[in-house]
Amino acid sequence: MKSELISTADLRKTLDDVLRGKSYDRIFTLTDATTARLCLPLLGLQNSENITIDEGEPAKSIETLQYIWQQLEERGARRHSLLINVGGGMVSDIGGFAAATFKRGIDHINIPTTLLAMVDASIGGKTGVNFLGLKNNIGAFRMPVATIISAKFLQTLPLHAIMCGVAEMLKHALLDSPQHLAEMINDDFPFNADADGWQKKVMRSVQIKQRFVDADPFESGCRKALNLGHTFAHAFEALSLRRAKTSTPLSHGYAVAYGIVCALYLSCTKCRFPQDSMRQTVRFITEHYDRPAFTCDDYEELLTLMRHDKKNSTEKIRFVLLKNIGEYTIDADASDEEIREALDFLREG
Ligand SMILES: NC(=O)c1ccc[n+]([C@@H]2O[C@H](COP(=O)([O-])OP(=O)(O)OC[C@H]3O[C@@H](n4cnc5c(N)ncnc54)[C@H](O)[C@@H]3O)[C@@H](O)[C@H]2O)c1
Ligand SMILES: [Zn+2]
Repeated sequence: MKSELISTADLRKTLDDVLRGKSYDRIFTLTDATTARLCLPLLGLQNSENITIDEGEPAKSIETLQYIWQQLEERGARRHSLLINVGGGMVSDIGGFAAATFKRGIDHINIPTTLLAMVDASIGGKTGVNFLGLKNNIGAFRMPVATIISAKFLQTLPLHAIMCGVAEMLKHALLDSPQHLAEMINDDFPFNADADGWQKKVMRSVQIKQRFVDADPFESGCRKALNLGHTFAHAFEALSLRRAKTSTPLSHGYAVAYGIVCALYLSCTKCRFPQDSMRQTVRFITEHYDRPAFTCDDYEELLTLMRHDKKNSTEKIRFVLLKNIGEYTIDADASDEEIREALDFLREG
């Protein structure tokens, strides 16, 4: 099915246009409590019912999924109903998977409200939930009917969440071109962007992701490049989720920023990635993100988590590494010792 990608400053009109001519019998929105309060009203939707789920990564679970299925069933959703995900990546991941599975699949639309969801999570059809302490362990590819992107939502987004999205934008810039990376790290971004500037920067980043998705929708080849930094990132997140009872879980975007540092270290030592580009990117990350919270006592658990990563076809841990900005190699491997060195580099700078 064709999935529309729409950039807009007029959410209500765009949504009307997308829905016109479609014969959905019922329309449901899915939000968390914050996006129900701050984002849903901007859509001006009538004749829809809202399902609100708990907020944050721990809620991206089978239990929440079951709650969504139950709400859809009890409120009369049918095969020709529509689910509109209004929220960050947590909402679009679980909502997309609920839509993929309810009655063997109903249509869904993504309206991303965080920067991270705009440039990454809401695009490309990956949906799912965390299971048994592993990120996105259960899921499916399911394309939204449309993804509607408006930087208007960023006005209420806290800086921490902005920086989460910036991490994925950095990843896209590293996969794109030196100019794109320079724009990201050199001109006081993200602090000097106005609404128009944001929309442009977001759509530039979106286009990089979309290019990889179009070329390889099911991630059997070049789309794997988008996992730059993510072998490490998923292990950092899983470690922190396991400890979430005692502390706030690490955000995906922060984990990605740390993962990029480790991947660039391996890229320099194994693929001759230019040291100065690595230093500039690492400096940007060190300046804008907190220090990672783990210690060398966590290395063995992190290595075990990386071995369980979905990206590994064998027991070897696989990484996306860069030979240069815009020149990647997928399925690179590294020894445990090299991985420990990369983790040391991240912790010690
Ligand atoms: N499917 C994919 O391809 C893909 C890609 C990247 C990340 N992800 C997933 O995305 C998730 C992270 O997404 P996220 O960072 O958007 O987190 P999130 O959805 O948990 O949102 C972060 C916080 O921001 C709040 N929020 C959302 N919009 C807001 C707004 N406009 N104003 C104020 N607050 C707002 C939310 O209520 C939440 O508390 C992770 O689960 C990650 O695995 C998926
Ligand atoms: Zn990511």
